[in-house]
Amino acid sequence: MKYVMGIDLGTSGVKAILVDENGKVCCETSKPYRLIQDKPGYCEQHPEDWVEQTIAAMRELMARQPAHSRQVEGISFSGQMHGLVLLDESRQVLRPAILWNDTRTTEQCTRITKKLGDRLQKITKNQALEGFTLPKLLWMKEHEPNIDQQIDLFLLPKDYVRFRLTGAIHIDYSDAAGTLLLDIGKQTWSEEICQAFDIPSQICPPLVSSEAEVGTLLPQVARETGIKEGAKVFAGGADNACGAIGAGILSSGHTLCSIGTSGVILSYEEDHERELQGNLHLFHHAKKDAFYTMGVTLSAGYSLDWTKSLLAPEESFQALLEGVADVAPGANGLLFTPYLVGERTPYADSIIRGSLIGLDSRHERAHMVRAVLEGITFSLNESIALFRQAGKRIDSIVSIGGGARSQTWLQMQADIFQAEVIQLKNEQGPALGAAMLAAVGCGWYPSLEACADQFIHQAAVYEPNQQRVDVYAHLFRLYQSIYTKTRDIHVDLKQYRSI
Ligand code: XUL
Repeated sequence: MKYVMGIDLGTSGVKAILVDENGKVCCETSKPYRLIQDKPGYCEQHPEDWVEQTIAAMRELMARQPAHSRQVEGISFSGQMHGLVLLDESRQVLRPAILWNDTRTTEQCTRITKKLGDRLQKITKNQALEGFTLPKLLWMKEHEPNIDQQIDLFLLPKDYVRFRLTGAIHIDYSDAAGTLLLDIGKQTWSEEICQAFDIPSQICPPLVSSEAEVGTLLPQVARETGIKEGAKVFAGGADNACGAIGAGILSSGHTLCSIGTSGVILSYEEDHERELQGNLHLFHHAKKDAFYTMGVTLSAGYSLDWTKSLLAPEESFQALLEGVADVAPGANGLLFTPYLVGERTPYADSIIRGSLIGLDSRHERAHMVRAVLEGITFSLNESIALFRQAGKRIDSIVSIGGGARSQTWLQMQADIFQAEVIQLKNEQGPALGAAMLAAVGCGWYPSLEACADQFIHQAAVYEPNQQRVDVYAHLFRLYQSIYTKTRDIHVDLKQYRSI
């Protein structure tokens, strides 16, 4: 039997899976790493932590399945998007990486929008949003000029890890699209944008497709991990693009709800001509010549993690969710907005923060947890509403990640999204998409579609319940009104934020 390894470099940790030719996930492991949040709105990580923990995860998989180690034919990657890793001439990391959920760059976004006007949308198909990479590069010029002068190359997170494992430097189109420096139509770095902001185009890494074979493991890495030296390494893609592949979102009419640290609603697009509103993004898919549109909730799984860390740090998520199914929709009059680090879609707003409205002395932990799950799901529903306004039909959604691990949450998604929600068997999120890119790259299957037929299977379908749909439709309108009604308060409160 032959195997491929899929590695997903997430925000809270790295996950690695080993998959055989038939799509069976033989084993999986995760290794955590730290977030550095020194100032309000800041979110950074040490690239060295990613490398150490990725190697540790690969080593652990091989130690658990020593017989398989010589048969790992291919490895590929999925990674958190947009994060800025800066390297000097000798390929040393210049500073901690600035991540996708770091919102320090509001001023830089305003300048980008002012300077480029319509051209930004025409070239990149996106608006300037704090999480993207270009605003981070401009922030470096203004705030850390000494480091800026030493920049010889930038990479995105998974590309940096892949570089350390193989010695080869590349970026794939699905991640390049999230930098705001890519001309999506021409599939090249945009000279116009680079020139407008005095960014030498040589600092942009070489572009390849997600399926491209980009090298093999360095001998020392092969020794450290226990994987054979000749194992092929494929470029891989952005985590959301890989999540879409791993969920079979490979043709028009397919929609994904993926809940990790962030939460996204993603819809497949044949081309890049769609007009978008409300801060929806349009990026390259990790499937060749395909695209997707997407709305992002910055703190989806993160809101639940945060709730657990406050209310039940010693318990499992399963224990935290106990009793939630017995609470009726509306959490006994409690509404939560998940703006813990600001928001992206539909409001690109780095100032807004979360709310818990309707607190009553009779509320118990299960009410709060239900309110948090509902608030996250309402936020994702804002993206679905934008898609529907743009004329998309969304009646079936594949759910992956944290939201797919609880029957209560899956049913809640069906009731709030007003669509059937599909749960997958053996769901592995973006790591499976990465493994599929390796499987196709190794020639096991002629296409991602053929691989999906073998690897992806439905486990259950959750249908909306009309009674709860009606209740949630009303609650959703209340939820939506919180943003406009509380924005001024958050602006005033900002002065008191010191952590
Ligand atoms: C997408 C985004 C997040 C990260 C999470 O634009 O910023 O979903 O990719 O890893």
